[in-house]
Parts: sequence; C-alpha cells; structure tokens
Amino acid sequence: MSKISLQKLYKKLLDLFKNYSKQEAINIIQKYLYLKFNASNTDLLIDKFISWNKSIEKEVVSDLNKISQGIPIQHVLNKEFFYNNLFYVNHDVLIPRPETEELVDMIIKNESTDKIKSILDIGSGSGCIAITLDNNIKSKVIGIDASEKAIIIAKNNNINVGTNVTFLEKKIEEYKPDIKFDLIISNPPYISIEDIDCVDDNVKKFEPKLALFVNDDPIYFYKVIINFSKKYINNNGKIYFEINDKYYSDLFKYVRDANLSYSFVKDLNRKFRFLIINF
Ligand SMILES: C[S@@+](CC[C@H](N)C(=O)[O-])C[C@H]1O[C@@H](n2cnc3c(N)ncnc32)[C@H](O)[C@@H]1O
Repeated sequence: MSKISLQKLYKKLLDLFKNYSKQEAINIIQKYLYLKFNASNTDLLIDKFISWNKSIEKEVVSDLNKISQGIPIQHVLNKEFFYNNLFYVNHDVLIPRPETEELVDMIIKNESTDKIKSILDIGSGSGCIAITLDNNIKSKVIGIDASEKAIIIAKNNNINVGTNVTFLEKKIEEYKPDIKFDLIISNPPYISIEDIDCVDDNVKKFEPKLALFVNDDPIYFYKVIINFSKKYINNNGKIYFEINDKYYSDLFKYVRDANLSYSFVKDLNRKFRFLIINF
C-alpha cells in the first residue's frame, strides 16, 4: 500500500476548509487526523507517513463533506477517546466532553480508591464515566440511564473496553437499588429549555435532547439525586456532580440552605463546573 506524509495530507485538508477561520480549520483537521488515523500532533510535527490509497481518499473526502455540513467529527467517525480509551458514539448519546474527563480524573487522583467498594453513575450515556471508573477503581460499578438506546451503546463500550459495569435502563426517579453506594457520580442534563437559543446549533441538531435539556427547574436533577443519595449513599460517601456554571449560584443557595457539606470546584477554564457533596 502506498503512503502519504501527514504534513502533505494536513495541507490538502486545510484547503478544503477555506470557509472556516484558520484556527477552527486547524482544530477540525487535528481532531480528524487523531480520530481517523490515530495521528497525534507530534506525529504531524515529525511528519510521519500513513497508509494511503484511492479508497481511503474517497472515505476522507466523504467524511470531510459531512463535517463541513456541521455533523460532529465524533458522529462521522462514530468514536471519541475518553481517558485514553476509545468509545463508540452516535446521535443517541452525548459526546464525552473534556470537563467530564476532568471530573473523573479528580476522583481517581483525589480519592482513596481502595476504600470505594460501590459506585453509581446516574445518566451514564455512552458509559464513559462508569467504564473509566471501573477501569481504575476496584469496585462494583452500576450505570443507569433513562434512554434504552444509550444503555445499548454503553453495554457495547463496556465489552470493547473490557470492563465489568452493570448498565441498567432506569430513570433515577424510579430507581430503587438493593445496595448502597460509596460514590455517586452524575453529569446530568443541565441546560434549561429556556436557554435553548444559546446552545450551539450543531449540538442542538445532533446530540440527544434527553441528554442536554431539563424542563422548568434547571437544578431539578441535582435535587432528585441529592434526595436519592440521602437514602442510598453510605456514611462518608460522596456525590461528584458536573454542573453548568450558569447555575452555580442556584446550586450554591440550594446546598447551603439544605445544610449539606459541599465544595464547588473550578475546571481548567476557571469556571465552577463541579460540585462535591460529603455525607
Ligand atoms: C449530560 S448526559 C451525560 C452522559 C454521560 N454520563 C457523559 O458524561 O458523557 C445526561 C444523561 O442523562 C440521561 N437522563 C436523562 N434523564 C434521565 C433520568 N430521568 N434518569 C436517568 N438518566 C437520565 C440522558 O439520557 C443522558 O444520557
């Protein structure tokens, strides 16, 4: 099979994204090369060669056509990396985000993981959180989601990564587990339906509404999950939440007035994006 230099390919692809700002085009091409050919920025710098032929070229042109129509790269290629593992994704699950990786990393690095024996991930989507925790903590891990399609994808990702998470199609409002948990984690839907106009068009068009939006009360899931935890979390257990920084003050008032022991944590962009509750 013949080969092509990554730098040569990179320049060819950049030419196809002339309508985009330079930085946007660079970001798209770098992400595409990484997901499609496993080619990192270092590979690009050292100008590695990759296999190339007419049929690969056809695929690349077709992929880039879809990407230029606004379809997320991860949906075009049906994959995203999360904590170094590859996850299958499609329009039935939220594409795993870097902030969520930060949340999982915080747990793995800050918790005495040998003491955690049971973990629940609420709203597991692709399974990225539950699977990554199972891969890094010796513990029973359960993931629940209201979406049947999401659970099918999470189960497949569980097999592909080689983990042992139990995924259940359940709404948190109806879930009555027969065990208690040391750790509950959730990245729940947290965009108020009233803010739908502020959401990027491609996110609205291609990602599942059930994963993104919450009706009426934007902190609804936080309240439900905190109430659930009062019954189903062990002494000294913790909840780790991802939050929308826009609702930081609503959440702050809620946890303060409920007399909970809490801390808010900023992400790498210095926004309040995580809430930890101690029981
Ligand atoms: C923001 S997504 C998070 C997905 C994944 N955990 C991640 O971080 O990429 C929220 C998830 O909650 C699920 N969900 C929505 N309502 C739910 C409910 N009532 N009970 C359980 N899961 C729910 C959605 O289907 C979606 O998969």
